[in-house]
Amino acid sequence: MADSTPSRLSNVFKTFMPPPRTGLADSNYTGVELQWKMFVIRPALFKWDLIGLALVLVYILWSFVGRRWNKRIADSWANHWRAVINKQVAVVNVFKHSPTLADGPTDFLTYASGRRGMERLYTHIHTRPRHDIFQQLFNTAWSLVDFNADSADNVSITATLTPGAGGQDVGFVYALVRKSKMTNLRKKRFDLGLTRTVDGGEDWTDFAPMAEVHALATSFAKPHLTGLVETVREKGDLLNWLIISDQPAAKPTKGPLNPDEKERVIELNLRLPEDVTALTPYIMLVFNLIDAIHLQKLSLNADTLRRLQKNRVELGASLAKEYAKQLEDEEEERTGKSAEERKRIAKKAIEDAKYEKMSNEDRRKYEEKERKKVARKAQPKPKMKR
Ligand SMILES: *[C@@H]1O[C@H](CO)[C@@H](O)[C@H](O)[C@H]1NC(C)=O
Repeated sequence: MADSTPSRLSNVFKTFMPPPRTGLADSNYTGVELQWKMFVIRPALFKWDLIGLALVLVYILWSFVGRRWNKRIADSWANHWRAVINKQVAVVNVFKHSPTLADGPTDFLTYASGRRGMERLYTHIHTRPRHDIFQQLFNTAWSLVDFNADSADNVSITATLTPGAGGQDVGFVYALVRKSKMTNLRKKRFDLGLTRTVDGGEDWTDFAPMAEVHALATSFAKPHLTGLVETVREKGDLLNWLIISDQPAAKPTKGPLNPDEKERVIELNLRLPEDVTALTPYIMLVFNLIDAIHLQKLSLNADTLRRLQKNRVELGASLAKEYAKQLEDEEEERTGKSAEERKRIAKKAIEDAKYEKMSNEDRRKYEEKERKKVARKAQPKPKMKR
């Protein structure tokens, strides 16, 4: 009886095991045979094993080469970037053993700080998933479905500006976005919700300027003011978007942000070409834009500044209102009672507590008063005569 279990188990095993290999020691074997000392390998007998092993090796090798490739792209950007900004900033972060800080196999970061008008500057290099053959296949397939999907190598440069000095120094949202990227970006960025699309004219046929107020669009389209017009005319094919914003990219979920959580940023997203030196004008553009904002060269008039200020106040109020409503809904869900009901219950509890403390005489008076109140409410209201 006791030995029936192992035999059943071994039956189960047998069904899952591959059939036994035959011909391992067959003397009629005619295929290739490798021999080393006492070991003999007959590859023809291990065909599927070898194919499987080869695939695994290819995958590992592919992954290794892909990672190295991506790192080389990122490093070449980082080295060029450092050479260009060296004179502009006090500190360029040099990470140990590498010009970039790797954040996974496809993302790399560089960092700098110490310049007038700017708190910090970092770049984020996004490379294609060259290490992952399946992800690449998926991306290729997906690009056939979503024509706006783009997995080309790109770099975003983000400068965080010093906080506004107040007075004339009012925050704003302005963007210049490649038209093909508009739909996706609009969905992702909360701050762009404050802007309206303006006609770019013949200078910017591929791009849509998005501005909070029209005066901003006019200002940034002025030649020789910020360098934006000139840079895009020269190297527009490399620009995905420019966003200048003092509002969060993602919608705040807990009411308006505190002043110390707010940031003013300039963000550029650029296609990363083979020859990274082509991006030099954009690196310089970032500094020109920082100066234009810091030194208030955009010449916005008092009216415009007032409107920007008003927009911020209104946005803050609407976010606060939305959050209050959200809290209210959550409370209602939790207690199963509306705000009015909760208020009435709380009031009743207070009255009850008072009643508890009353003397008998007071209680009698109180009850009398309550009765009258109820009676008065039950009576139809006398109509006013005119
Ligand atoms: C930047 O590259 C990443 C990684 O390939 C990709 O997911 C993203 O869509 C690219 N962005 C743009 C704007 O091309």
